[in-house]
Amino acid sequence: MKQNNKMKFKQRMKHPCLPLYFRKEKLLTTFSIYLAALLTIMFIITLTLSIKLLNADSCQNEGNIIKYFSRATNMKNSSSNHRLALLVPYRDRFEELLEFVPYIHNFLNKQHISHGIYVLNQVDGYRFNRASLINVGYLQVKEEYDYIAMHDVDLLPLNANLSYAYPQQPYHLAAPNLHPRYHYAKFIGGILLINREQFGLVNGLSNNYWGWGLEDDEFYVRLKDANLNITRPENVTTGINNTFRHIHKRERKRDTLKCYNQREITRKRDRKTGLHNIEYELLTWKNMTIDFAPLTVMNIKLHCDLNLTPWCNCSSKSSTPTSNIGKQSKS
Ligand SMILES: *[C@@H]1O[C@H](CO)[C@@H](O)[C@H](O)[C@H]1NC(C)=O
Ligand SMILES: *[C@@H]1O[C@H](CO)[C@@H](O)[C@H](O)[C@H]1NC(C)=O
Ligand SMILES: *[C@@H]1O[C@H](CO)[C@@H](O)[C@H](O)[C@H]1NC(C)=O
Ligand SMILES: *[C@@H]1O[C@H](CO)[C@@H](O)[C@H](O)[C@H]1NC(C)=O
Ligand SMILES: *[C@@H]1O[C@H](CO)[C@@H](O)[C@H](O)[C@H]1NC(C)=O
Ligand SMILES: *[C@@H]1O[C@H](CO)[C@@H](O)[C@H](O)[C@H]1NC(C)=O
Ligand SMILES: *[C@@H]1O[C@H](CO)[C@@H](O)[C@H](O)[C@H]1NC(C)=O
Repeated sequence: MKQNNKMKFKQRMKHPCLPLYFRKEKLLTTFSIYLAALLTIMFIITLTLSIKLLNADSCQNEGNIIKYFSRATNMKNSSSNHRLALLVPYRDRFEELLEFVPYIHNFLNKQHISHGIYVLNQVDGYRFNRASLINVGYLQVKEEYDYIAMHDVDLLPLNANLSYAYPQQPYHLAAPNLHPRYHYAKFIGGILLINREQFGLVNGLSNNYWGWGLEDDEFYVRLKDANLNITRPENVTTGINNTFRHIHKRERKRDTLKCYNQREITRKRDRKTGLHNIEYELLTWKNMTIDFAPLTVMNIKLHCDLNLTPWCNCSSKSSTPTSNIGKQSKS
């Protein structure tokens, strides 16, 4: 029975009435359908891959696909899914900025840190307020980043062991035994990494610090009060002369004036001000690059309540310049 069927089939195929060209054409048609299907599938795969690559944010920064692939491979580890916002309080330090941004961008890329650089440019007429600028930066980026680095614009890390990875506890990179200038035990200025939740938990930084210094010492007390443990680099063999490069293009005068009751108030722990009650206006937000390193500049107009912190403007008051009184940070 079976053989019979086969025979019949063979016979049918070889049936002399079926013209030769028809059989060949049928074969060809089947072949071209397969070929077309194969080509379509390959085309779709290629298209999907290239769209994915174009969408990858690092692609335009890196400029080539090979680099993207090697980075993507390195970033497989889930610990590197964290995103760092580098918050750089800024006013009138253009030469330092030009050097800082490309340098830190490359430094972070070498550590495969997914990051954004935010220059917080204070454009109101009040005295510089580093702490409030960081509060503003945090509020603006906290949806997209899960940790921040408060970063001086004039401090370049030299030692590759200085890690900018996601910190479980506040991580003070510019430690007293490494910072070129400040060596007291409670110093946490210069460069400090902290995760989003912990910065929120302590209500950010105090908004009372107009003018240079002491805001970081107050922040130290906030961290202590919240039982957070400040950690510092441990595997760094370099010291105060060769861990960082301090870039001062010119000697700039620090605004160390004290007026009204500033001296008295800014020595106390501030339980009232911080993230919750900062008032500001974000005037513009500009994306740009310096030597291919991307950054965002926020032009920030801080609000000052003259009844609470009249020392945001000392010019109408006779004020007393002071020398660096012990524990001051910013440079
Ligand atoms: C991922 O990172 C964690 C912590 O940094 C490390 O313990 C782990 O070994 C890493 N895993 C891989 C596959 O690299
Ligand atoms: C600071 O005070 C001076 C003198 O009263 C005034 O001219 C200036 O406008 C004030 N600056 C700001 C930003 O309010
Ligand atoms: C140095 O220590 C930090 C943690 O403190 C770590 O993340 C980093 O990988 C270490 N660097 C090297 C090169 O071992
Ligand atoms: C900080 O360190 C202390 C003592 O080492 C420990 O008891 C405490 O749990 C730590 N705090 C956090 C938030 O890890
Ligand atoms: C970096 O850390 C490693 C250990 O993790 C250590 O052997 C090496 O000496 C450190 N290098 C520097 C320059 O600090
Ligand atoms: C750092 O440099 C200064 C000035 O060159 C020098 O006096 C000092 O001994 C150096 N410190 C260390 C720890 O190397
Ligand atoms: C600026 O860059 C940020 C990402 O860093 C992006 O979300 C935003 O849309 C950009 N804005 C403009 C106007 O290109």
